[in-house]
Amino acid sequence: MAIKESELIARIKATVDESALADLRVELLGRKGLVTEQLKQIGSLPPQQRATAGAEANRLRQALEGALSDRQTELQRARVSAELSRPLDLTAPGARPSFGHRHPVSLVLDELIDLYWQMGYQVAEGPEVETEWHNFEALNIPSDHPARDMQDTFYLEEAHLPRTHTSGVQIRHMEANKDKLPIRIISPGKVYRNEDEDARHSWSFYQIEGLVVDEGVSVADLKGTLQAMMRGVLGDKTKVRLRSNYFPYTEPSVEMDASCIVCAGTGQIASGTCHLCGGTGWLELGGAGMVHPQVLRNVGIDPEVYSGFAFGFGPERIAAIKYGVDDVREFWRPNFKFLEQF
Ligand code: PHE
Repeated sequence: MAIKESELIARIKATVDESALADLRVELLGRKGLVTEQLKQIGSLPPQQRATAGAEANRLRQALEGALSDRQTELQRARVSAELSRPLDLTAPGARPSFGHRHPVSLVLDELIDLYWQMGYQVAEGPEVETEWHNFEALNIPSDHPARDMQDTFYLEEAHLPRTHTSGVQIRHMEANKDKLPIRIISPGKVYRNEDEDARHSWSFYQIEGLVVDEGVSVADLKGTLQAMMRGVLGDKTKVRLRSNYFPYTEPSVEMDASCIVCAGTGQIASGTCHLCGGTGWLELGGAGMVHPQVLRNVGIDPEVYSGFAFGFGPERIAAIKYGVDDVREFWRPNFKFLEQF
């Protein structure tokens, strides 16, 4: 027979690692391997030689299989013991854990809180599950008021609901501090509405509420405060515009716009109409107004002596404008490629 068994066994014993051994196994025992070829040739032998040749080929296969598996065990042992005896370098740098970073909406909230802190405001908080009294009734929104539909919401048991705005914190804070005026607070937090989602709306989002109650507070104070805030977050050149609006808990009520940061309020950019403000030059940012006298009465503050203003904004919208994000839903998706850019 042409194949020398002892030479093959010697080749097996000479392999240096497991991958070389795997290659050799294919060469010897694979579908096109040496032994298979030899078995195929048996058919062409004269009949009286076939039985011996077949037995011989099978014996060879078994011998090679045994040698391959012995060598496999040897090589594996050698590899493991080499790994275990490698010196351990205690000074080698470790794998760095990722520490994470502030969320873009938190960055904007922190910036706003900082600005208001400098103007003497305190941060007040309220519960996310609110009573109908705080969320609606005390704010002049009785159960048949159409303003409830505008904040289309879902209810929990016993006159509680996920708050639809942060304005309930105004009520809570005035109830608790009516004997400790003046009040100057901001209140950031999450709110919930039965809202269809799109690039500018989401069923859950943040608001930041502001409230000032003191003697002699006027619309001029409100406008100056909003202007200071918008200049602080969007830049020194930002202008503020108040348009008349309606909220049951403020009188007069306004909608606040800031001049567009992309086109500087002109509505035009080099390539044509400004994409951010749609050519109007203004960005709608929030609602505000002078606290309605009835709301003050509802919490036991005398509107003949005191007046105040309140406002409410969406920090996601401010973050979207500031960072050039065109879909607010992106803020709350678990998408690290997006979030790691801030
Ligand atoms: N609560 C109003 C809203 O959610 C905003 C607002 C707050 C308006 C305070 C006036 C005063 O849209």
